Amino acid sequence: MSKVILVTGGSSGIGQSIATLLADKGNIVYAASRNVVNQFDGNLRMLRMDVTDESSIISAIAFIQANHGLLDALINNAGLGMAGPLENTTETEAKEIFDTNVFGVLNVCRACIPLLRISKGRILNVTSIGGIFALPFRGIYCSSKFAVEGISESLSMELAPMGIKVSIVEPGDFKTNINTNRKKVASVDHTHYPTFDATLVQINQEVSGAMETDIIAHAVERILRKRNPHLRYRVATATQHFSVWLYRLLPGRWFEKLIMNHYKLR
Ligand SMILES: NC(=O)c1ccc[n+]([C@@H]2O[C@H](COP(=O)([O-])OP(=O)(O)OC[C@H]3O[C@@H](n4cnc5c(N)ncnc54)[C@H](OP(=O)(O)O)[C@@H]3O)[C@@H](O)[C@H]2O)c1
Repeated sequence: MSKVILVTGGSSGIGQSIATLLADKGNIVYAASRNVVNQFDGNLRMLRMDVTDESSIISAIAFIQANHGLLDALINNAGLGMAGPLENTTETEAKEIFDTNVFGVLNVCRACIPLLRISKGRILNVTSIGGIFALPFRGIYCSSKFAVEGISESLSMELAPMGIKVSIVEPGDFKTNINTNRKKVASVDHTHYPTFDATLVQINQEVSGAMETDIIAHAVERILRKRNPHLRYRVATATQHFSVWLYRLLPGRWFEKLIMNHYKLR
């Protein structure tokens, strides 16, 4: 049966693939982001919405409510990458990432939960493997994803009695526009962080050589069809699954050494 689904960050990368696949499967999908023109024909609809702007969220959700009366699924996918040494990151730079990646999720949930209650719907929050263990020069990004992991666990328990099921989707690296859109700390102290530029090159290479987004779109479509979905789904390569396994198994300093060697920090 056709569902009404909202995908934030649906204009690019992972969100665009998810929105396109779900619309191809017969659902009415609102792909929301800041830089789109509203377009409401067909199954795949573009909805202008900034997850950091409460008034823009309220008017976008009011439109869905007026047209459908409910929402079956919310996929919180909009997000920004961030690279830079923590010492050189200003509060303003850090807040921009948290405003989008953390408060954006909370803002959209707050607006959508009343509509999801009607359908006993679903919430999928897209975090990252970087939301399980942190990486050098991505402390702000990783901590924003750690926060969404925690929010999702609480939300899941709070909403379960109402019949709303919450799941977390943890992607490994996927080939998207995240490299281009990633924020960089404006003022990097290269004397004390001489490896930063090389690490950034390595991060960009890892994403540009990564998996295609149709893999995660199909995974999300399968998760939405499950009657009793798990709390967590990791969509990643075997190596990335193995790294999470090592993180859980090894003493913290040993795992840290592996990551530092990987990024040539020692
Ligand atoms: N690609 C990866 O390797 C990877 C790995 C792990 C996790 N992730 C996560 O997957 C999600 C999608 O990332 P992606 O790789 O597909 O990146 P992307 O290609 O850069 O897409 C990001 C999307 O988010 C939207 N967006 C950004 N700020 C927004 C805001 N304030 N309000 C509404 N929409 C906003 C962008 O559209 P506008 O600019 O038009 O607003 C765009 O549609 C993110 O949460 C990211 O952290 C990605």
